[in-house]
Amino acid sequence: VRHLMIAGNWKMHGLQRQVQALTTAIKEGVTSYTEIEVVLFPAFVHLNQVQALLTQTAVKVGAQNLYPAPQGAFTGEVSGPMLVDIGCQYVLVGHSERRMLFQEDLALVAAKCQAAVAVGLQPILCVGETKAQRERGETEAIIAEQIRTIIECVGVAALQQAVIAYEPVWAIGTGLTATPEQAQAVHAFIRHLVAQNNLDIAKAIRILYGGSMKADHAAPLLAMPDIDGGLVGGASLDADHFLAICARAHQQQSEYS
Ligand code: PGA
Repeated sequence: VRHLMIAGNWKMHGLQRQVQALTTAIKEGVTSYTEIEVVLFPAFVHLNQVQALLTQTAVKVGAQNLYPAPQGAFTGEVSGPMLVDIGCQYVLVGHSERRMLFQEDLALVAAKCQAAVAVGLQPILCVGETKAQRERGETEAIIAEQIRTIIECVGVAALQQAVIAYEPVWAIGTGLTATPEQAQAVHAFIRHLVAQNNLDIAKAIRILYGGSMKADHAAPLLAMPDIDGGLVGGASLDADHFLAICARAHQQQSEYS
């Protein structure tokens, strides 16, 4: 049984006071949702603060990005060893906002994935197609290229410690959501791609849905056989809303177990 994960990607939001309140509310609210894994992704400058608030809880912390080199003259960047050193367990890699706003190409995403795995961080590898690509019928081709580059450059074994997030770019921050059936079809395709390389890893790897997951439609998404949780952006900035999604996931996990 794969353990459902609900990840909150706070992106570039919050000042210390808000981060404190949000983390505290989530930490107190999730204590009864023992069946699922909850991970928060604050901005770099808040990682220590969030980490300190979460000690002795089951909630984990991850970073939104990393640089491939372990150290060096890379002004403004943050390395994998630095993240491990402050207690991060996860790191987002290849988020569509980074691919698009910061021109991260397939090779750079693969290098980041490799750097994460090398230091024992668990990458959450984000893949997904744009609206134009979906309309041209290229969804599977785009996702296959994104996944295959990782497998070719980093090796399929690296996926043992990875999570994949399917993020239809057209649904991120737009309020649009893939239907459960649309999402399930892509998730099944992703699992099939991994299975072509390693069946055991394909069965075990968690594939999260990201793209405007909200509490009111999380249930049918989370009930799909190949959807193993959510990477939640906007809705993770509101503790009640985020906790409602966690509650749905907890309920779904209880049905599986
Ligand atoms: P959203 O963001 O939930 O606000 O669409 C998802 C993400 O980018 O991780």
